[in-house]
Amino acid sequence: MNAPGSRGVRFAGTGVALPPGVLTNDDLAKRVDTSDEWITQRTGIKQRHIADEHTTARDLARQALLAALDDADLKPTDLDLVLVATITPEMTCPSTAARLVDEIGATPAGAMDLTAACAGFVYGLNLAAPLIQTGQYQRIAIVGAEVLTKAVDFTDRRTCILFGDAAGATILEATDDPTQGCLLQTVRSDGGHWKHLYLPTDQTHLPEDPHERELFNGTLGALQMNGREVFKVAVQQTENIILETLDRAGLQADEIASFICHQSNARILELTRKRLDLPADKLPINIDRFGNTSAASIPLVMRDLQLAGQFNPGDLILFTGIGGGMCWATSLWKL
Ligand code: ACO
Repeated sequence: MNAPGSRGVRFAGTGVALPPGVLTNDDLAKRVDTSDEWITQRTGIKQRHIADEHTTARDLARQALLAALDDADLKPTDLDLVLVATITPEMTCPSTAARLVDEIGATPAGAMDLTAACAGFVYGLNLAAPLIQTGQYQRIAIVGAEVLTKAVDFTDRRTCILFGDAAGATILEATDDPTQGCLLQTVRSDGGHWKHLYLPTDQTHLPEDPHERELFNGTLGALQMNGREVFKVAVQQTENIILETLDRAGLQADEIASFICHQSNARILELTRKRLDLPADKLPINIDRFGNTSAASIPLVMRDLQLAGQFNPGDLILFTGIGGGMCWATSLWKL
């Protein structure tokens, strides 16, 4: 993607925010007919963070973005644009990003929310990188922020076990080294799968097909999911898009330092790992601690790798996200 003579992009700083409340599998087993054993075997999740009733996605986004600015040793006014990937905003108008920019003192930076569910953070990387590489902007913040526990029905054991609350932010900054940055990207969607994962707020949002309606649990404002269908599409498309990206880049899997994948389900990630014949440390899994945090999961993995000293200049990193829509994306970077 870097045109000769254009600028490079680097990750200047990363920050995460986790609400202090923790909900374990045993806690959930007191609320619905499930068990730690079932959840661990089927998803790999042991616990998830849960925001209190007053905490919004914007609150978590603000904490994560301020931490990322601190990590980058930058001021809010250094930002040109803030993208917030979320499916749990307080409102659709104004955007979460606009109020966030105001709250951190980054006005008049541009602000925009992005709705691509669990692929939101990777879509954000792919939108921001060329804006910097072509010289339009110097620094862009991408924030993934979700309070998904406010968008599930805690009597529906099919969904309430999966999701957690978190935010993660990164700041992309221009560099003079054009070999550094996003080398290649892919964005895809297939809206034909919409009814396998959606958040209805009105009866008219329900699928017309009676078989598909059967899965509706009767709660508006809560995520409805056909887990088996999402699982199938996620496994197939994650493998396809990673192989396609490697092929287009002329790279072998073992040349990639880390595959940073959306944390949807440990079984999906393990299957991807096996199909690509990757050693365990190349595709990190941290869903056991956080659950599925949708747009926030990728920066949570990034932060783990940074703290472990595994996110270093010169590394090739392949980001992959897939989720509601369904939407999926890859972003190949040289750090
Ligand atoms: N505890 C115990 N039993 C359960 C639970 C539970 N929490 N949930 C479902 N079951 C039961 C079902 O009722 C079913 O029972 P039955 O056979 O008597 O009918 C049985 O377990 C199997 O149900 P399945 O739905 O087939 O279970 P599966 O193995 O598919 O696991 C899961 C379900 C974990 C949801 C899985 O399908 C999954 O992870 N899918 C992908 C979800 C995902 O990745 N979403 C990401 C996108 S999120 C986003 O974009 C915001």
